[in-house]
Amino acid sequence: MVVKTAASVLEKFSTRRENLIPMLQKVQEVEGFISPESIKLISDKLRISENEIYGVSTFYAQFRFTPPGEHSIYVCMGTACHVKGGQQILNMLEYELGIKEGQTTEDGRFDLNRVACLGCCALAPVIKIDDKIYSQMSVLKLMDVLEKYTQSVEVTDE
Ligand code: FES
Repeated sequence: MVVKTAASVLEKFSTRRENLIPMLQKVQEVEGFISPESIKLISDKLRISENEIYGVSTFYAQFRFTPPGEHSIYVCMGTACHVKGGQQILNMLEYELGIKEGQTTEDGRFDLNRVACLGCCALAPVIKIDDKIYSQMSVLKLMDVLEKYTQSVEVTDE
């Protein structure tokens, strides 16, 4: 099996500036985040300063700059979930995990992200952890769910 690296996928792009966003997307797809080394590679190839690349990429919520955690938490911020308390769910998670959205906990267990809509608005507010959807979330329910993951119990469908 060929393991793709940021350097190998970036080789395929030309040196045109318009390639910046596609290159960042490709790096994230391959590495799970955008490392400082990848920023340097892109900077050298496109002749754009690293500061400018950070400036552009932080504008897009899709890019993350820290390695993902063992479990990825996505909080839905679509209209239905927002109206039903999605922001409070996100605030609670930030408080409990001690990180902001887009970051990973120090122990590498969780990363926290916001998403636009998880496609099950009738069950709002909704979060997703890895591939599992948790619906009609409340702060109490959230604490229960988090506990399952922090105890390293294998999470199965109920
Ligand atoms: S708005 Fe949250 S699932 Fe659609």
